[in-house]
Amino acid sequence: MNFKNLIFSIEEDFYLIKINRPKKLNALNQDTLSELKKCIEYIRNNTKGFYGVIITGEGEKSFVAGADIKEFIGLDDKISKSFCENGHNIFNSIENLSIPVIGIINGYALGGGCELSLSCHIRIATKNAKFSQPEVNLGIIPGYGGTQRLTQVIGKSRAIEMMLTAEMIDAEKAFNFGLVNHIAEDYDKAYDKAKNIIATVKRKGPDAIKNVIKSVNAFYDNDKNGFKEEIKLFVDCTNTEDFKEGVKAFLEKRCPSFKGK
Ligand code: CAA
Repeated sequence: MNFKNLIFSIEEDFYLIKINRPKKLNALNQDTLSELKKCIEYIRNNTKGFYGVIITGEGEKSFVAGADIKEFIGLDDKISKSFCENGHNIFNSIENLSIPVIGIINGYALGGGCELSLSCHIRIATKNAKFSQPEVNLGIIPGYGGTQRLTQVIGKSRAIEMMLTAEMIDAEKAFNFGLVNHIAEDYDKAYDKAKNIIATVKRKGPDAIKNVIKSVNAFYDNDKNGFKEEIKLFVDCTNTEDFKEGVKAFLEKRCPSFKGK
């Protein structure tokens, strides 16, 4: 698959997506979003034999500096509603992928960029990462799920202060806030860390991995009862051959060989 504003590569057992508009600090214009949508759809339909997705930004300066502000000119109610809904749909589809999505935040993660990172399951920041929800500087609020996901991830007090003040925080503060899981010295180290996580996940049962993601996401879904969902997904796992294999391998003191459904 060839894209104009994304570099999409299929690695041996994971996918790598780089947002590729470095001259515009990887700002998300509508073309980039539709490419991202296609890319995520492709991954969703092709997870067998793949154990993770890495999302990052091309270049050293920026992960994603937000929505493309140039496209804000002339927004009316209808366009701004579909602008938000489109972003929500794409970021929800990232969050709901059945294999882990790891964001490598290499530089600015601002506005829609911070929101994109929040749709990833795990975030690794390089030392030069900077996070902010600066929308109030433009007289708007975060529109790609930030008011919800930032609050879920770092808690109401910290999230609301970040969104009200547009403060830019560095990697260390983001780590202390629980906004990122890890800090790496540079992109290469972050990439190695992401690959290590994917290699660890590869040794687990793929259906169990999928159901952990589903069950955790249910916690944040107002239409679902997370505890009930957990019971359903637990039962789902116990019906798999992998579960039998996992238990058998433990009792036989060997590594399990999982196959997935
Ligand atoms: N949209 C469009 N273009 C952007 C952009 C954005 N979000 N961020 C940066 N760029 C462009 C600049 O216009 C500039 O382009 P030109 O060379 O053609 O002029 C290029 O990227 C480089 O940027 P700067 O010259 O500004 O670089 P800098 O180092 O001086 O500053 C920065 C870096 C502090 C990140 C600054 O670019 C900035 O503040 N960018 C805007 C960040 C922002 O407000 N993001 C939120 C957008 S709103 C949003 O995302 C809503 C939502 O919830 C979906």
